[in-house]
Amino acid sequence: MDQPVIRIIDLWKTYELDGSGVSALRGTNLEIKKGERVALLGKSGSGKTTLFNLIAGLDRPTKGRIEVEGQDLKTLGEKGRTLLRRTKIGFIFQFFNLLPTLTAFENVFLSLELANKPKPQLALHALKEVGLEGKERRFPSELSGGEQQRVAIARALVKKPSIILADEPTGNLDTATGNQILELLTRMCEESGTTLIMATHSPLTCRYATRILRMVDGVIFEETS
Ligand SMILES: Nc1ncnc2c1ncn2[C@@H]1O[C@H](COP(=O)(O)OP(=O)(O)OP(=O)(O)O)[C@@H](O)[C@H]1O
Ligand SMILES: [Mg+2]
Repeated sequence: MDQPVIRIIDLWKTYELDGSGVSALRGTNLEIKKGERVALLGKSGSGKTTLFNLIAGLDRPTKGRIEVEGQDLKTLGEKGRTLLRRTKIGFIFQFFNLLPTLTAFENVFLSLELANKPKPQLALHALKEVGLEGKERRFPSELSGGEQQRVAIARALVKKPSIILADEPTGNLDTATGNQILELLTRMCEESGTTLIMATHSPLTCRYATRILRMVDGVIFEETS
């Protein structure tokens, strides 16, 4: 029960570019417990997205260890990491990243199909929960930014993941809409016991977090003030 949802030990990521290396992560450590709602603050280029890509198994570290629910990502292999990502991790992005040729319903349903839970009722229910009842058949281009982000929240949460990684989830929204989205996202994660990590430039996000971390040049620090 005490096992952290995410454990990161001495994590390094160096990108190789034309012979020279850029170290985006420089030996960072982190433990996140189930149900925590974390704001990860950090300047542009500090390594937030790099960290998310590694936790989701989309990219591999140069050095160090990542465990998700006690499973070492390295020993899982490519197939194991893909399965983990599809079933245990929900992603929310700054630019929503919905598939433009799919309706709101289809975007959410696809997430269920990939997680091997193809139940249309679950997708309809998730869209209702984010306040989009009646708009299931709209395409992303027929929805406002805030509505598109609601679809993205439904898509991430519908498969009941253990972790939600939200990368600048309000970066492309006005303040009022952004606050509504943060309110909705954090409330839904709290109700379902889902662990949430929000990468952000915006100190406003901290109001919705139970814990605040700061990333500086590829290393994470606990924010105390
Ligand atoms: N694919 C890549 N190839 C080479 N360098 C990269 C790559 N992705 C990121 N970097 C570099 O790694 C560092 C960290 O980038 P990252 O995208 O993780 O920062 P970030 O904190 O998410 O920034 P932002 O707040 O602007 O989104 C930066 O110096 C960036 O230029
Ligand atoms: Mg980023």
